[in-house]
Order: sequence, then structure tokens, then C-alpha cells
Amino acid sequence: MALRLWKKKLPPKEDKQFKQANKITSKVLDDFSINTLISFLNSKKIKSLDYPVSSGKEAVVYRATDVNGQFIAVKIFKFETTALRKMGDYIEGDPRFVHVRRNRRSMVFDWTKKEFSNLQLASKLNVSCPLPLLFKGNIVLMEFEGINGIPYAKLNNVLLHDPEDFFKLLVENVIKTTKAGLVHADLSQYNILVKEDENGKQIPVIIDWGQAVMFEHPKSMDFLARDVSVICNYFSKLGLEIDEQKILKKIKSKIPQSILKRISSTKIAEN
Ligand SMILES: Nc1ncnc2c1ncn2[C@@H]1O[C@H](COP(=O)(O)OP(=O)(O)O)[C@@H](O)[C@H]1O
Ligand SMILES: [Mg+2]
Repeated sequence: MALRLWKKKLPPKEDKQFKQANKITSKVLDDFSINTLISFLNSKKIKSLDYPVSSGKEAVVYRATDVNGQFIAVKIFKFETTALRKMGDYIEGDPRFVHVRRNRRSMVFDWTKKEFSNLQLASKLNVSCPLPLLFKGNIVLMEFEGINGIPYAKLNNVLLHDPEDFFKLLVENVIKTTKAGLVHADLSQYNILVKEDENGKQIPVIIDWGQAVMFEHPKSMDFLARDVSVICNYFSKLGLEIDEQKILKKIKSKIPQSILKRISSTKIAEN
């Protein structure tokens, strides 16, 4: 089912072949991450670490299996290659992280905690995203979003059956995100997975929440406008007629009063 979604021709859906198709090899993890993973194994949070699903500049994502045989996504933030300044821009100004220490390790710990707490806030409001399970140090454990142990394909690799319907679902999820008091701040075709429900309907799953900010952040409205612009552009290119300003206005009109009250009036007037 899942592989049928890919534009790229992929071999059958065994894990091994998926791994080969994506040319992901094991990367060496630092001692701290290894010790944290060992603590997950000892406390039976996971039974095995299966294989790396993705390796980016800031994080490596592994598939793991728990004691019940369920798959879990393990996102490990890297200490070495992370862009500290970029992280700082998304942490400072967030009321949850008032005492930001500009040291690499503590910044990565804050970022990890932020991804976890954003996933908690978003999933409470039924945003379609992985359910967070726990975090420790620089690692977040969350629900594995995939089928037969293979992650759902990213939106940029999928031919949509009904782009209009999918875009509508995406906008609904952005509205739910604002109701959670959050702006994703890196929404794009690369951070949206495409899940198929039991009727074959394609549903967006929004991932990668580390940089998401609360509305109190001084740039939250700019980030919201950028998120909306990126998805509007993507779907316009697919042939949909989209009035970006109208969509943005609609999304802003759904931000709850209680949240708007927390943001300064000048900031709203500016936007
Ligand atoms: N919960 C999950 N379930 C399955 N696959 C996931 C999950 N989270 C991330 N992935 C996979 O890992 C990739 C990178 O994850 P992401 O959170 O976007 O990290 P990065 O910071 O590297 O962009 C995703 O594109 C997806 O393929
Ligand atoms: Mg990403």
C-alpha cells in the first residue's frame, strides 16, 4: 500500500529493501546518545533499535520496536552539527524557555524538550501528528507513522489522488495547530507525511515540531504567514487555484480570542 504512493519506483516493501532504497547507513552515535538508548532498553521502553530511517543535519530518526512488537520512532538530536543560532531564534521569545543557556548541549536538550512539548500540545488538539511517548536528554520517542514498518512517504514524493481535498485537510490542521497556541514554523512538503486511511483516503501527518513556537514568540505571525505561503505555493504548482491571502485571513480569523489576548495588540495590527 505505502509504496504505491511513491513517485519513485521502489522495490517491494520489506524493511531491508526500504533501507537499501534510501541508502541510509548507520551513523556513529555519541556516547551520551548511546547511553540514553541503553537506558531505554534497560527500562523496556524499547526492545530493539531497528534501523535509521533518516539522517539529517540536526537529527537522526530510527525505527525501534517495543516489547509488544509495536514500532516506535526514535528521534535523536545531534550535538555536533546543530545550528545553534537557528535554534536560538526559535527558542528565545518562547515563554516556556525563558532562561536560555547558550551552551550547545543545553540548547539541544531544550530543543528536544520543545519538540516533545509541541507534539503534546498539538496532539491534544487532534492535530494529525505523531503521538509523543517520552523524551530524555536529546532523544524523543514517538508513535511511528508508517505501514508495515515503513514510514509513510513525504508529500513531495507522493502523487495525490485529490490534491484539493488534501489541501483542505492541511488547512484544517494548521487551524487546529493555532488552536493549540502554536505555529509550526517549518511547514513544507518535506515535513508532511502522507497516510492512507482504511478507505484509501490520503491524510496529512505533520512531523518535525522542534522549531514550532507559541504565539507569544515575537515572530509567530511571520512564521504563520511563511508556513501558509509554502503550502499554498506547493499546491498552486499542482494546479489548484489558491488565494493565499484569503487562506491566511481565514486561518487567522480562527485563532481563539484567549490566545489573541496573550499576543500584543500591536503585533496583530502589524499583521
Ligand atoms: N514519527 C515518525 N514516524 C515515522 N517516520 C518518521 C517519524 N518522524 C520522522 N520520521 C522520518 O524521519 C524523517 C526526518 O524526520 P524530521 O522530524 O523531519 O527530522 P529532520 O529534522 O531531520 O528534518 C522524516 O522525513 C520521516 O521520513
Ligand atoms: Mg524535517
